[in-house]
Amino acid sequence: MNKDNQNDVVTGASQTIDVNSGSSLMEPDKNKSKETVQVKSEWPGPKGMIPVTSGKADDANVHNRVFLDNILVEMRVIDAVEPDLTTTILGRKYSSPLMPAAVSHLNKVLSDKTRKPMQEKAIAARNMDLLNWIGMETNEEYGEIVAQGGDTIRIIKPFADHNKILDEIKFAEEKGAVAVGIDIDHIAGKNGKYDVVDGIPLGPITMEDLKHYAESTNLPFIAKGVLSVSDALKARQAGCKAIVVSHHHGRVPFGIPPLSILPEIKKALAGSGMEIYADGSLMGGYDAYKALALGADAVLIGRGILSELLKSGTRATEDKLKKMNEELAEMMMYTGVKDTNSFDASVLHYE
Ligand SMILES: Cc1cc2nc3c(=O)[nH]c(=O)nc-3n(C[C@H](O)[C@H](O)[C@H](O)COP(=O)(O)O)c2cc1C
Repeated sequence: MNKDNQNDVVTGASQTIDVNSGSSLMEPDKNKSKETVQVKSEWPGPKGMIPVTSGKADDANVHNRVFLDNILVEMRVIDAVEPDLTTTILGRKYSSPLMPAAVSHLNKVLSDKTRKPMQEKAIAARNMDLLNWIGMETNEEYGEIVAQGGDTIRIIKPFADHNKILDEIKFAEEKGAVAVGIDIDHIAGKNGKYDVVDGIPLGPITMEDLKHYAESTNLPFIAKGVLSVSDALKARQAGCKAIVVSHHHGRVPFGIPPLSILPEIKKALAGSGMEIYADGSLMGGYDAYKALALGADAVLIGRGILSELLKSGTRATEDKLKKMNEELAEMMMYTGVKDTNSFDASVLHYE
């Protein structure tokens, strides 16, 4: 197995993480505790810019990893065929259900200022015909990134200033976004007050606010950072067309793994016509498979490509995503899943 034994740029102290599959290199010892799953993440950028994951018990990423690694699959190979990965997301066809996640600020973190990882990621997505997501960026930066990319979903912060949100929604519309949304999970700061990002105050999101934003645009509106049936139902009531089941790489201490609540949320939203995406420590194609089998319509890949993106740019990012597609297809073939509409959670077994 190919082990990464250094401080990986983003996934961090991955001494125990397989760089290809993302899986923890756990001994086949059921008594092993969660402490053996090291997902401590050292963020290379300016301190405080991105939440750093500690690898301790309150780090929700640890629990993601344990949850993912304890899902095993049965084989259904008779009649299995090479799978078709094409996926329809919000009415548009893409080459795969993998979507480069809503990340932000990456153009500020490298010492080589000639490189623009946000654009490099957008180009990789465009080249691979994947739906790219973009997080917190100013309108100007967002415009520069999408000018080089393809289809995009813009995720806006829950700013205290509602006019700023409406202005960014409008700008995304003008730039041809496929959808817009808010990362509703970025409300709280570490001090128990509404967070402040880049000096900009964030604020609460009420049902009425969400409804107002969803109604303000003709684009599909997305609530990113849903981790309960309660919020999923509120998002539906507010008119959201999709949600991302996520805890934003562990913003909430002791957050449950998104995939552990995904089936319940899926059930609660059945018949609503809403699409459900998921993210959280999906470091390889096998992880993505598990999310899709558990009911995600598509998945966001953040830290799974960040290391390649920051170290080497577009080409390396494409190579990583291709590898993930291959792993996904391999698992689909082994489990008799012919296309991305045919996932079946009954192949999954829990250790
Ligand atoms: C560097 C970085 C910046 C991020 N910025 C944003 C953001 O601005 N908006 C947002 O909704 N999510 C943001 N996220 C969260 C990701 O979209 C995603 O939810 C999270 O990383 C979980 O996926 P992962 O485990 O595959 O990384 C960011 C993640 C990273 C790593």
